[in-house]
Amino acid sequence: MTGIDAPRVRTRHFAQAKATGHKISALTSYDAMTAAIFDEAGIDLLLVGDSAANVVLGRETTLSVTTEEMITMARAVSGATRRALVVVDLPFGTYEAEERQAVDTAVRFMKETGVAAVKVEGGTEMAGTIRRIVDAGIPVVGHIGFTPQSEHALGGAVIQGRGAAAEKLRADARAVQEAGAFAVVLEMVPAQVATDITAELDIVTIGIGAGNGTDGQVLVWQDAFGLNRGRTARFVRQYADLGSQLLDAAKHYAADVGNGQFPAAAESYEDTK
Ligand code: KIV
Repeated sequence: MTGIDAPRVRTRHFAQAKATGHKISALTSYDAMTAAIFDEAGIDLLLVGDSAANVVLGRETTLSVTTEEMITMARAVSGATRRALVVVDLPFGTYEAEERQAVDTAVRFMKETGVAAVKVEGGTEMAGTIRRIVDAGIPVVGHIGFTPQSEHALGGAVIQGRGAAAEKLRADARAVQEAGAFAVVLEMVPAQVATDITAELDIVTIGIGAGNGTDGQVLVWQDAFGLNRGRTARFVRQYADLGSQLLDAAKHYAADVGNGQFPAAAESYEDTK
C-alpha cells in the first residue's frame, strides 16, 4: 500500500501525512467504476471535480456544470469508494453570492452524495465563505492559483503567482488556512512559490502544475491515463494510453461484428435449460 495507512482516509490523516512527509496522491473521478479502481490502487483522495464539465460532458469550460449533475457523479463515486476521502467541487454560481448560499449548497452535497468534504475556489475573498461552511461541520479544501471557474476573469489558463503576484498567492493560502480549510489545491503556480507556501502552511498543499514541493499531487484522470487524446498541459504525465487502447478495441469490435466473428457460439445461448 503506497497511500495513507488507514482503513478509511479521514481529514485528520492529512495533518498526519504532512507531519510524516507522506505525499498525498489524488485523482479526479466521476463514476463508480473508476472510483473503485482508484480506491483499490491506494489513491488517498478522489476529487469529483467540476472538470467533469470538460472531460465527461464535453463542454468548453467548467462554468455550466450544475449541482444536479455534480450530485449524480459524486453519489456514484462515494458509493464505490471504501477507503479514499471523497471531495466534491462546489459548482460555479452556487456559493459566491453569499455565505448562506454556500452553506446551503455544501449541506446539500453532504446530505445527498456521501462525500466527506467540499472544494471551494478562491483565496482571501472566499475566506468568510470557507469559515461558514467549516462552522457548519463540513470539511473544506481550498483552491487557489489558477482557478478554472474564473478563467474568463484571469484571461485563460494562465500561470498565477509569478513575480510580485507571489505575495498575493501567499496571502490567499494563509487566508484559506485561517478560514479552517484542511487542505488547499495550488494550480499552475511556479514550483518555488508552491514550495514556499507548503513550508509556511500547517495544512496540506495539493499541487497541479505546481512542481514537486507540495504535500501531494492531483491530476485529472483522463489526462493522466491518456483517455484525453487532445492537447494536455505541460504538467501532465501520461501513465497509460487508454485512448489508443479503446480506439483499437472499438475498431476490433466493429470489424468482428462486420465480418460475423462476434458473437461466437460460446457467447450465445442454447435453447436448453
Ligand atoms: O475540477 C478539477 O478537476 C479540479 C482539479 C484540476 C484540481 O479542480
